[in-house]
Amino acid sequence: MTIPDTFPAFLATRRDDTVDRGVASLARDDLGDGEVTVRVDWSSINYKDALATIAKGQVARISPLVPGVDLAGEVVACDSDAFSAGDQVLVTGYDLGVAHDGGYGGRVRVPADWVVPIPNGLSSFDAMAIGTAGFTAALSIVDMENNGLAPAAGPVIVTGATGGVGSLALQMLAGRGYAVTALSGKDSEHDFLRSLGAREILSRHQLEKGTRPLEKSQWAGAVDAVGGDILAWLTRTMMYNGTIANSGLTAGTELHTTVLPFILRGVKLLGIDSVMCSMEKRLRVWQRLATDLKPAGLRTVAREITLDGLPDAFATLLGGAARGRFVVTHERNAP
Ligand SMILES: NC(=O)c1ccc[n+]([C@@H]2O[C@H](COP(=O)([O-])OP(=O)(O)OC[C@H]3O[C@@H](n4cnc5c(N)ncnc54)[C@H](OP(=O)(O)O)[C@@H]3O)[C@@H](O)[C@H]2O)c1
Repeated sequence: MTIPDTFPAFLATRRDDTVDRGVASLARDDLGDGEVTVRVDWSSINYKDALATIAKGQVARISPLVPGVDLAGEVVACDSDAFSAGDQVLVTGYDLGVAHDGGYGGRVRVPADWVVPIPNGLSSFDAMAIGTAGFTAALSIVDMENNGLAPAAGPVIVTGATGGVGSLALQMLAGRGYAVTALSGKDSEHDFLRSLGAREILSRHQLEKGTRPLEKSQWAGAVDAVGGDILAWLTRTMMYNGTIANSGLTAGTELHTTVLPFILRGVKLLGIDSVMCSMEKRLRVWQRLATDLKPAGLRTVAREITLDGLPDAFATLLGGAARGRFVVTHERNAP
Protein backbone atom coordinates (compact mmCIF):
# COMPACT_ATOMS: atom_id res chain seq x y z
CA MET A 1 0.00 0.00 0.00
CA THR A 2 1.47 3.35 -1.00
CA ILE A 3 0.99 6.79 0.48
CA PRO A 4 -1.00 8.96 -1.98
CA ASP A 5 0.49 12.26 -3.19
CA THR A 6 -2.37 14.20 -1.61
CA PHE A 7 -5.12 13.53 0.91
CA PRO A 8 -7.95 15.59 2.45
CA ALA A 9 -7.58 17.04 5.94
CA PHE A 10 -9.44 19.48 8.16
CA LEU A 11 -7.08 22.37 9.00
CA ALA A 12 -7.19 24.94 11.80
CA THR A 13 -4.98 27.96 11.09
CA ARG A 14 -4.49 30.71 13.66
CA ARG A 15 -4.95 34.31 12.37
CA ASP A 16 -4.52 36.90 15.14
CA ASP A 17 -7.67 36.51 17.28
CA THR A 18 -9.48 34.03 15.05
CA VAL A 19 -8.92 30.55 13.66
CA ASP A 20 -9.58 29.71 9.99
CA ARG A 21 -11.07 26.23 9.70
CA GLY A 22 -11.92 24.05 6.74
CA VAL A 23 -11.11 21.03 4.60
CA ALA A 24 -7.91 21.34 2.54
CA SER A 25 -5.66 19.07 0.53
CA LEU A 26 -2.36 18.06 2.16
CA ALA A 27 0.63 16.46 0.44
CA ARG A 28 2.77 13.50 1.47
CA ASP A 29 5.55 15.92 2.49
CA ASP A 30 3.17 17.52 5.01
CA LEU A 31 3.09 14.38 7.15
CA GLY A 32 4.50 14.84 10.66
CA ASP A 33 7.53 13.18 12.26
CA GLY A 34 7.44 9.57 13.32
CA GLU A 35 7.98 5.99 12.24
CA VAL A 36 4.39 4.86 11.60
CA THR A 37 2.21 6.11 8.74
CA VAL A 38 -1.47 5.30 9.12
CA ARG A 39 -4.42 5.50 6.73
CA VAL A 40 -6.96 7.04 9.06
CA ASP A 41 -10.32 5.31 8.68
CA TRP A 42 -12.10 6.84 11.67
CA SER A 43 -11.56 9.62 14.15
CA SER A 44 -13.85 11.18 16.74
CA ILE A 45 -14.67 14.43 18.51
CA ASN A 46 -13.74 15.19 22.09
CA TYR A 47 -14.28 18.44 23.95
CA LYS A 48 -10.55 19.15 23.55
CA ASP A 49 -10.90 19.02 19.74
CA ALA A 50 -13.53 21.74 19.87
CA LEU A 51 -11.18 23.83 22.03
CA ALA A 52 -8.29 23.21 19.60
CA THR A 53 -10.20 25.03 16.84
CA ILE A 54 -11.09 28.25 18.67
CA ALA A 55 -8.75 31.11 19.53
CA LYS A 56 -9.51 31.17 23.25
CA GLY A 57 -9.31 27.40 23.57
CA GLN A 58 -5.61 27.45 24.54
CA VAL A 59 -5.17 23.89 23.35
CA ALA A 60 -3.53 24.08 19.88
CA ARG A 61 0.25 24.47 20.09
CA ILE A 62 1.04 24.64 16.34
CA SER A 63 -0.54 26.41 13.38
CA PRO A 64 -1.65 25.25 10.92
CA LEU A 65 -2.85 22.18 12.78
CA VAL A 66 -4.78 19.10 11.72
CA PRO A 67 -6.78 18.59 14.94
CA GLY A 68 -8.16 15.27 16.13
CA VAL A 69 -6.82 13.76 19.37
CA ASP A 70 -8.09 10.32 18.32
CA LEU A 71 -7.55 8.15 15.26
CA ALA A 72 -7.96 4.55 14.16
CA GLY A 73 -6.94 2.95 10.91
CA GLU A 74 -4.45 0.77 9.09
CA VAL A 75 -0.66 1.02 9.09
CA VAL A 76 0.55 1.76 5.53
CA ALA A 77 4.27 2.07 6.32
CA CYS A 78 6.51 1.64 9.36
CA ASP A 79 10.20 2.54 9.67
CA SER A 80 10.71 0.32 12.72
CA ASP A 81 10.01 -3.29 13.67
CA ALA A 82 7.16 -2.21 15.93
CA PHE A 83 4.37 -2.46 13.34
CA SER A 84 3.75 -3.87 9.86
CA ALA A 85 1.67 -2.65 6.94
CA GLY A 86 -1.88 -3.86 7.40
CA ASP A 87 -1.90 -3.67 11.22
CA GLN A 88 -5.09 -2.16 12.66
CA VAL A 89 -4.09 0.50 15.18
CA LEU A 90 -5.36 3.42 17.24
CA VAL A 91 -3.73 6.50 18.72
CA THR A 92 -5.13 8.81 21.41
CA GLY A 93 -3.54 11.62 23.38
CA TYR A 94 0.16 12.54 23.60
CA ASP A 95 0.66 15.55 21.27
CA LEU A 96 -1.81 14.22 18.69
CA GLY A 97 -4.16 16.91 17.37
CA VAL A 98 -2.52 19.51 19.60
CA ALA A 99 1.16 19.84 18.71
CA HIS A 100 1.29 17.13 16.01
CA ASP A 101 -1.16 16.66 13.13
CA GLY A 102 -4.00 14.42 14.25
CA GLY A 103 -6.97 12.33 13.25
CA TYR A 104 -8.80 14.78 10.96
CA GLY A 105 -6.36 14.01 8.13
CA GLY A 106 -6.72 11.04 5.79
CA ARG A 107 -3.10 10.05 6.49
CA VAL A 108 -1.01 10.66 9.58
CA ARG A 109 2.56 9.87 10.62
CA VAL A 110 3.22 9.37 14.33
CA PRO A 111 5.94 8.07 16.66
CA ALA A 112 5.74 4.28 17.09
CA ASP A 113 5.56 4.61 20.88
CA TRP A 114 2.17 6.37 20.62
CA VAL A 115 0.56 3.52 18.70
CA VAL A 116 -1.78 0.91 20.25
CA PRO A 117 -2.78 -2.24 18.31
CA ILE A 118 -6.58 -2.45 18.22
CA PRO A 119 -7.39 -5.47 20.41
CA ASN A 120 -9.46 -8.40 19.15
CA GLY A 121 -13.11 -7.71 19.87
CA LEU A 122 -13.05 -4.10 18.65
CA SER A 123 -13.37 -2.79 15.09
CA SER A 124 -11.67 0.49 14.19
CA PHE A 125 -15.15 2.07 14.26
CA ASP A 126 -15.68 0.72 17.80
CA ALA A 127 -12.29 2.06 18.84
CA MET A 128 -13.31 5.56 17.78
CA ALA A 129 -16.84 5.37 19.14
CA ILE A 130 -14.98 4.77 22.41
CA GLY A 131 -12.01 7.09 21.69
CA THR A 132 -10.46 9.34 24.31
CA ALA A 133 -13.84 9.82 25.99
CA GLY A 134 -14.41 6.10 26.52
CA PHE A 135 -10.78 5.47 27.39
CA THR A 136 -11.10 8.18 30.07
CA ALA A 137 -14.33 6.64 31.36
CA ALA A 138 -12.58 3.26 31.56
CA LEU A 139 -9.54 4.76 33.34
CA SER A 140 -11.96 6.30 35.84
CA ILE A 141 -13.64 2.96 36.56
CA VAL A 142 -10.37 1.00 36.72
CA ASP A 143 -8.83 3.49 39.13
CA MET A 144 -11.97 3.66 41.31
CA GLU A 145 -12.12 -0.15 41.49
CA ASN A 146 -8.41 -0.25 42.36
CA ASN A 147 -9.38 2.03 45.26
CA GLY A 148 -12.04 -0.32 46.56
CA LEU A 149 -15.17 0.49 44.56
CA ALA A 150 -17.43 -2.48 43.84
CA PRO A 151 -21.12 -2.77 42.94
CA ALA A 152 -22.01 -3.81 46.50
CA ALA A 153 -20.50 -0.60 47.91
CA GLY A 154 -23.49 1.49 46.82
CA PRO A 155 -24.72 3.79 44.04
CA VAL A 156 -22.37 5.45 41.57
CA ILE A 157 -23.14 8.82 40.01
CA VAL A 158 -22.05 9.95 36.53
CA THR A 159 -22.00 13.70 35.84
CA GLY A 160 -22.33 15.23 32.36
CA ALA A 161 -24.12 11.97 31.67
CA THR A 162 -25.22 12.63 28.08
CA GLY A 163 -21.69 13.69 27.02
CA GLY A 164 -18.91 11.54 25.61
CA VAL A 165 -17.20 10.53 28.87
CA GLY A 166 -20.51 10.40 30.74
CA SER A 167 -22.56 8.32 28.30
CA LEU A 168 -19.80 5.71 27.96
CA ALA A 169 -19.09 5.60 31.71
CA LEU A 170 -22.80 5.06 32.27
CA GLN A 171 -22.91 2.10 29.90
CA MET A 172 -19.76 0.53 31.31
CA LEU A 173 -20.86 0.87 34.94
CA ALA A 174 -24.35 -0.46 34.25
CA GLY A 175 -22.80 -3.40 32.39
CA ARG A 176 -20.73 -4.20 35.48
CA GLY A 177 -23.77 -4.28 37.73
CA TYR A 178 -23.52 -0.89 39.40
CA ALA A 179 -26.65 1.05 40.39
CA VAL A 180 -25.94 4.17 38.36
CA THR A 181 -27.45 7.62 38.81
CA ALA A 182 -27.08 10.01 35.87
CA LEU A 183 -26.73 13.74 36.52
CA SER A 184 -27.66 15.67 33.39
CA GLY A 185 -28.62 19.14 32.27
CA LYS A 186 -30.77 17.72 29.46
CA ASP A 187 -34.25 17.04 30.74
CA SER A 188 -35.28 15.87 27.24
CA GLU A 189 -32.76 12.99 27.24
CA HIS A 190 -34.03 10.86 30.10
CA ASP A 191 -35.11 8.03 27.78
CA PHE A 192 -31.64 8.04 26.22
CA LEU A 193 -30.01 7.91 29.67
CA ARG A 194 -32.28 5.05 30.77
CA SER A 195 -31.43 3.16 27.55
CA LEU A 196 -27.76 3.40 28.56
CA GLY A 197 -28.51 1.86 31.94
CA ALA A 198 -29.28 4.76 34.32
CA ARG A 199 -31.47 3.64 37.24
CA GLU A 200 -32.00 7.17 38.55
CA ILE A 201 -31.71 10.54 36.84
CA LEU A 202 -31.03 13.87 38.54
CA SER A 203 -31.59 17.18 36.77
CA ARG A 204 -28.59 19.48 37.01
CA HIS A 205 -30.92 22.49 36.92
CA GLN A 206 -32.93 21.30 39.94
CA LEU A 207 -30.04 19.95 41.97
CA GLU A 208 -30.12 21.09 45.58
CA LYS A 209 -26.46 21.29 46.47
CA GLY A 210 -26.78 22.58 50.03
CA THR A 211 -24.06 24.60 51.73
CA ARG A 212 -22.82 22.42 54.59
CA PRO A 213 -19.27 20.96 54.42
CA LEU A 214 -20.84 17.50 54.71
CA GLU A 215 -24.29 16.77 53.27
CA LYS A 216 -26.23 13.49 53.32
CA SER A 217 -23.90 10.74 52.05
CA GLN A 218 -25.24 9.20 48.86
CA TRP A 219 -22.53 7.92 46.51
CA ALA A 220 -19.99 5.12 46.74
CA GLY A 221 -18.40 6.30 43.50
CA ALA A 222 -18.54 9.21 41.06
CA VAL A 223 -17.33 9.57 37.48
CA ASP A 224 -17.03 13.31 37.10
CA ALA A 225 -16.14 14.95 33.79
CA VAL A 226 -17.52 18.38 34.66
CA GLY A 227 -15.69 19.65 37.78
CA GLY A 228 -16.53 23.07 39.29
CA ASP A 229 -19.43 23.36 41.73
CA ILE A 230 -20.69 19.89 40.77
CA LEU A 231 -17.41 18.32 41.88
CA ALA A 232 -17.53 20.38 45.09
CA TRP A 233 -21.04 19.03 45.75
CA LEU A 234 -19.81 15.49 45.09
CA THR A 235 -17.07 15.80 47.72
CA ARG A 236 -19.79 16.76 50.25
CA THR A 237 -22.19 13.91 49.38
CA MET A 238 -19.90 10.89 49.10
CA MET A 239 -20.41 7.87 51.35
CA TYR A 240 -17.74 6.77 53.79
CA ASN A 241 -14.64 5.71 51.76
CA GLY A 242 -16.33 6.90 48.56
CA THR A 243 -14.20 7.45 45.47
CA ILE A 244 -14.45 10.26 42.91
CA ALA A 245 -12.68 10.10 39.54
CA ASN A 246 -12.43 13.59 38.05
CA SER A 247 -11.35 14.04 34.45
CA GLY A 248 -12.97 17.24 33.20
CA LEU A 249 -13.84 20.87 33.58
CA THR A 250 -16.96 21.72 31.56
CA ALA A 251 -18.52 23.27 34.72
CA GLY A 252 -15.32 25.09 35.70
CA THR A 253 -11.74 24.65 36.83
CA GLU A 254 -12.10 25.89 40.39
CA LEU A 255 -12.90 23.60 43.30
CA HIS A 256 -14.33 25.07 46.50
CA THR A 257 -14.72 22.53 49.26
CA THR A 258 -13.20 21.73 52.66
CA VAL A 259 -10.94 18.96 53.91
CA LEU A 260 -13.79 17.49 55.99
CA PRO A 261 -14.98 14.93 53.38
CA PHE A 262 -11.41 13.65 53.12
CA ILE A 263 -10.53 13.47 56.82
CA LEU A 264 -13.94 12.53 58.27
CA ARG A 265 -15.35 10.27 55.53
CA GLY A 266 -12.13 9.00 53.93
CA VAL A 267 -13.29 10.29 50.55
CA LYS A 268 -10.75 9.74 47.77
CA LEU A 269 -10.46 12.22 44.89
CA LEU A 270 -8.63 10.66 41.95
CA GLY A 271 -7.29 12.69 39.04
CA ILE A 272 -7.72 11.02 35.66
CA ASP A 273 -5.42 11.84 32.73
CA SER A 274 -5.74 10.02 29.42
CA VAL A 275 -3.13 12.05 27.54
CA MET A 276 0.14 10.94 29.13
CA CYS A 277 -1.13 7.66 30.58
CA SER A 278 1.66 5.04 30.41
CA MET A 279 1.69 2.63 27.46
CA GLU A 280 1.57 -0.33 29.83
CA LYS A 281 -1.69 0.94 31.35
CA ARG A 282 -3.05 1.99 27.93
CA LEU A 283 -2.65 -1.54 26.58
CA ARG A 284 -4.23 -3.04 29.69
CA VAL A 285 -7.23 -0.68 29.64
CA TRP A 286 -7.83 -1.04 25.87
CA GLN A 287 -7.76 -4.81 26.35
CA ARG A 288 -10.51 -4.39 28.96
CA LEU A 289 -12.45 -2.05 26.65
CA ALA A 290 -12.50 -4.91 24.15
CA THR A 291 -13.75 -7.39 26.76
CA ASP A 292 -15.40 -6.86 30.15
CA LEU A 293 -15.63 -3.04 29.91
CA LYS A 294 -16.88 -2.98 26.30
CA PRO A 295 -19.97 -0.74 26.19
CA ALA A 296 -23.01 -2.73 25.08
CA GLY A 297 -24.54 -0.10 22.81
CA LEU A 298 -21.77 1.72 20.96
CA ARG A 299 -24.04 2.31 17.95
CA THR A 300 -26.59 3.91 20.30
CA VAL A 301 -24.15 6.60 21.42
CA ALA A 302 -22.19 7.14 18.18
CA ARG A 303 -23.23 9.45 15.35
CA GLU A 304 -21.18 9.45 12.10
CA ILE A 305 -20.12 12.72 10.48
CA THR A 306 -17.69 13.71 7.71
CA LEU A 307 -14.89 16.31 7.86
CA ASP A 308 -17.36 18.92 6.51
CA GLY A 309 -19.58 18.37 9.54
CA LEU A 310 -16.87 19.16 12.10
CA PRO A 311 -17.62 22.90 12.70
CA ASP A 312 -21.28 22.22 13.56
CA ALA A 313 -20.29 19.37 15.84
CA PHE A 314 -17.69 21.53 17.62
CA ALA A 315 -20.39 24.14 18.26
CA THR A 316 -22.60 21.43 19.74
CA LEU A 317 -19.92 20.36 22.21
CA LEU A 318 -18.93 23.92 23.13
CA GLY A 319 -22.61 24.70 23.75
CA GLY A 320 -22.86 21.79 26.22
CA ALA A 321 -25.39 20.13 23.91
CA ALA A 322 -23.50 16.92 23.06
CA ARG A 323 -25.35 13.61 23.19
CA GLY A 324 -23.00 10.64 23.08
CA ARG A 325 -20.16 10.56 20.58
CA PHE A 326 -19.42 11.97 17.12
CA VAL A 327 -17.41 9.51 15.02
CA VAL A 328 -15.64 11.06 12.02
CA THR A 329 -15.51 9.10 8.76
CA HIS A 330 -12.74 9.47 6.18
CA GLU A 331 -12.57 8.65 2.49
CA ARG A 332 -12.33 4.88 2.32
CA ASN A 333 -10.40 2.43 0.15
CA ALA A 334 -7.82 5.00 -0.92
CA PRO A 335 -4.53 3.51 -2.14
N1 LIG B 1 -8.56 14.18 31.74
C1 LIG B 1 -8.64 13.63 30.53
O1 LIG B 1 -7.76 12.92 30.08
C2 LIG B 1 -9.86 13.92 29.71
C3 LIG B 1 -10.23 13.07 28.67
C4 LIG B 1 -11.44 13.31 27.99
C5 LIG B 1 -12.22 14.39 28.35
N2 LIG B 1 -11.79 15.22 29.34
C6 LIG B 1 -12.61 16.36 29.75
O2 LIG B 1 -13.85 15.85 30.20
C7 LIG B 1 -14.88 16.79 29.91
C8 LIG B 1 -15.98 16.12 29.11
O3 LIG B 1 -15.47 15.73 27.84
P1 LIG B 1 -16.46 15.10 26.76
O4 LIG B 1 -15.63 14.82 25.56
O5 LIG B 1 -17.27 14.04 27.39
O6 LIG B 1 -17.37 16.40 26.48
P2 LIG B 1 -18.89 16.46 26.00
O7 LIG B 1 -19.21 15.30 25.14
O8 LIG B 1 -19.08 17.84 25.51
O9 LIG B 1 -19.72 16.26 27.36
C9 LIG B 1 -19.73 17.20 28.40
C10 LIG B 1 -21.08 17.14 29.10
O10 LIG B 1 -20.99 17.93 30.29
C11 LIG B 1 -22.26 18.46 30.61
N3 LIG B 1 -22.13 19.91 30.73
C12 LIG B 1 -21.98 20.82 29.74
N4 LIG B 1 -21.87 22.06 30.24
C13 LIG B 1 -21.96 21.92 31.59
C14 LIG B 1 -21.96 22.85 32.67
N5 LIG B 1 -21.83 24.15 32.47
N6 LIG B 1 -22.08 22.38 33.92
C15 LIG B 1 -22.20 21.03 34.16
N7 LIG B 1 -22.22 20.11 33.16
C16 LIG B 1 -22.11 20.56 31.90
C17 LIG B 1 -23.20 18.09 29.45
O11 LIG B 1 -23.89 16.88 29.81
P3 LIG B 1 -25.36 16.93 30.46
O12 LIG B 1 -26.15 17.90 29.63
O13 LIG B 1 -25.86 15.53 30.36
O14 LIG B 1 -25.20 17.41 31.86
C18 LIG B 1 -22.22 17.77 28.32
O15 LIG B 1 -22.79 16.91 27.37
C19 LIG B 1 -14.19 17.96 29.21
O16 LIG B 1 -13.87 18.95 30.15
C20 LIG B 1 -12.93 17.33 28.65
O17 LIG B 1 -11.91 18.27 28.46
C21 LIG B 1 -10.64 15.00 30.02
